[in-house]
Amino acid sequence: MRKRTLVFDLRSDTVTTPTPEMREAMANAVVGDDQYGEDPTVRELEELAARMLGKEAALFVPSGTMGNLAALLTHCGRGDEVILGSESHIFWFESGGAAALGGMPFSMIENALDGTMPLEKIELAIRPAGRSGYPRTGAIAIENTQNRCGGTVLDMGYLSELKALASEYGVPVHMDGARIFNAAIASDTPAEAIAATADTIQFCLSKGLAAPVGSMIAGSADFISGAKGGRKILGGAMRQSGTIAAAGVVALKTMVERLGEDHARARRLAEGLAAIDGLTVDLDSVQTNIVIFDCRPEMEHADFVAAMKARDILISNYTPRGVRMVTHYQAGDDAIDAALEAAAAVMSA
Ligand SMILES: Cc1ncc(COP(=O)(O)O)c(C=O)c1O
Repeated sequence: MRKRTLVFDLRSDTVTTPTPEMREAMANAVVGDDQYGEDPTVRELEELAARMLGKEAALFVPSGTMGNLAALLTHCGRGDEVILGSESHIFWFESGGAAALGGMPFSMIENALDGTMPLEKIELAIRPAGRSGYPRTGAIAIENTQNRCGGTVLDMGYLSELKALASEYGVPVHMDGARIFNAAIASDTPAEAIAATADTIQFCLSKGLAAPVGSMIAGSADFISGAKGGRKILGGAMRQSGTIAAAGVVALKTMVERLGEDHARARRLAEGLAAIDGLTVDLDSVQTNIVIFDCRPEMEHADFVAAMKARDILISNYTPRGVRMVTHYQAGDDAIDAALEAAAAVMSA
């Protein structure tokens, strides 16, 4: 086999690098000390994000992990329980920060394949108020799109019912909407309508939107004022951060609508993989830019990933769920063709 010189990176949409327009905006950003509230570019980004999500205010934070944690620290006191899904990013990939730094135990509910947590199980998990010995239920954390379930989009009917249930018990809903705009584009629903089903939301600029750094949290003005304290405690209050916020502004203005291209490529990729003998893809789960699939049992996921890498295709091992490929701005049709060709070669070797 002739070795290709191009490596296609489908491990994640986080591998995207800033567009030329972002680099130019960063170079020319007007900045100030954000901890004095004097960075006009950060203000612009925060106002734009709040507007796009229909929330009173938003806050720029360095990462999605910090955004989720600052939000939970704002909703919960030490010992307050967070209800979340067994496949949630907060549970799997955030180093247990809510427990380690916020003293919040997790009450875990198994995610269904579509990324939802059954409402009746959530209701059972909400602690009755005033019962001696019970922790207080501090928040319900949901994820949309649901990464480990294949980037599934939570249904709006489900989200509205969940919000009504949580309100009945006075429990805030926090949405880890790292890929909220993927959900919005895939379901043809305004991001604002999706965000209205949660009290607070975190979304990432640094994933499919291709900004180099940063996430936003959004909610009421009171919530954001409290979250500034959480961000500071976590070391995320920055200074001339307009230099990076400038890329975020470009991301929100120019990179949202094109996410549909990533979704179409993910669909083509998933259908192509499903046609390869020995690979199994749940095509129903492929709703956005993430494709999680399995190979025949005698092949270890790690071996499949290594064999793909040997063919210059980088993908992620998502054991036990399978292996993962993610489409993004810098993975065009040639990346999909190359990935399918490599997968077919690996499975027939
Ligand atoms: C669903 C979800 N939430 C949160 C995060 C955390 O974002 P960051 O890597 O910026 O901390 C990620 C990152 O991949 C994610 O997929």
